[in-house]
Amino acid sequence: MEVKTLGITGVQIPVLGLGTWGIGGLSNRNSGNDEIDIQAIRLGLELGMRFVDTAEMYGRGHSEEVVAEAIKDQRESIFLATKVSGEHLAYDGVLRSCEASLRRLRTRYLDLYQIHWPNTRIPLSETMKAMERLVDEGKVRHIGVSNFSVRQLNEAQEALSKTRVVSNQVEYSLTERSIERDLLPFAEKKKITIIAYSPLARGQISSQAHGDRWIVLDQIAKITHKTRSQVALNWLLLKPTVVAIPKASNLDHVRENAGSVGWSLSEEQKERLNEAFK
Ligand SMILES: NC(=O)c1ccc[n+]([C@@H]2O[C@H](COP(=O)([O-])OP(=O)(O)OC[C@H]3O[C@@H](n4cnc5c(N)ncnc54)[C@H](OP(=O)(O)O)[C@@H]3O)[C@@H](O)[C@H]2O)c1
Repeated sequence: MEVKTLGITGVQIPVLGLGTWGIGGLSNRNSGNDEIDIQAIRLGLELGMRFVDTAEMYGRGHSEEVVAEAIKDQRESIFLATKVSGEHLAYDGVLRSCEASLRRLRTRYLDLYQIHWPNTRIPLSETMKAMERLVDEGKVRHIGVSNFSVRQLNEAQEALSKTRVVSNQVEYSLTERSIERDLLPFAEKKKITIIAYSPLARGQISSQAHGDRWIVLDQIAKITHKTRSQVALNWLLLKPTVVAIPKASNLDHVRENAGSVGWSLSEEQKERLNEAFK
């Protein structure tokens, strides 16, 4: 699997990770699909997607429990990321949430701990003080954020006294490109990794049928002998600071997504997609 450097850290992470929204339930716990989800995560790991992204809110914590089961015995070789919810950003709330995630994930440390979404009612300085304590205690290796604007990213960085914000997890796909206006150039300049969520537009990229843009995507898929989803992920990963975390419970989808790396769209194909999906 190809790798990219995480922020300014020098740490190499796989360009494709495994998203887990829906694994272990959505807003509520659901263990009905655990067995197949564990298989899907393990297959993704085997195929090189050794970066797993989860959150305390997914399935009310059950997503983290499913991930723990899937990665047991191989924790040390996996880049493990989770998130603290926006309503738990008070100092004690962050510490409590982290302890609970560590317990559910059955691990001593998180590779990346992300603020899931901003909360304007709690000063970022308070949240970041707790995050830095977790780094000092060895429970968190790197601090990231999610759904932060450029202004909020700057504030987050200013609130840290001795570490850096290494990543911002935001929606980015062929059909959702608004970060290209200011967030993406900012991240490139400041060397902050963009973790693209919903990179397949929640599955719509493979299923949308009508319109000129889809004809272009189908033509490029045909020329490259790839699928729409593979082309869409490859296009995202052409950006130097972007990694992506598609979610797939279906084993064929996992295999297909793994096939979106190891080759590259040509400059001309990239430009055609830029134009069609602008
Ligand atoms: N930070 C945030 O606020 C935030 C918000 C949203 C998402 N996320 C993260 O980003 C991850 C990915 O985003 P997402 O789950 O919203 O959307 P996504 O990855 O764009 O799409 C997932 C959907 O696409 C389907 N799929 C996957 N691979 C496919 C393929 N090759 N062909 C056709 N369909 C395919 C999946 O079906 P199957 O499962 O049936 O395979 C699933 O229904 C999440 O799981 C989560 O970890 C973060």
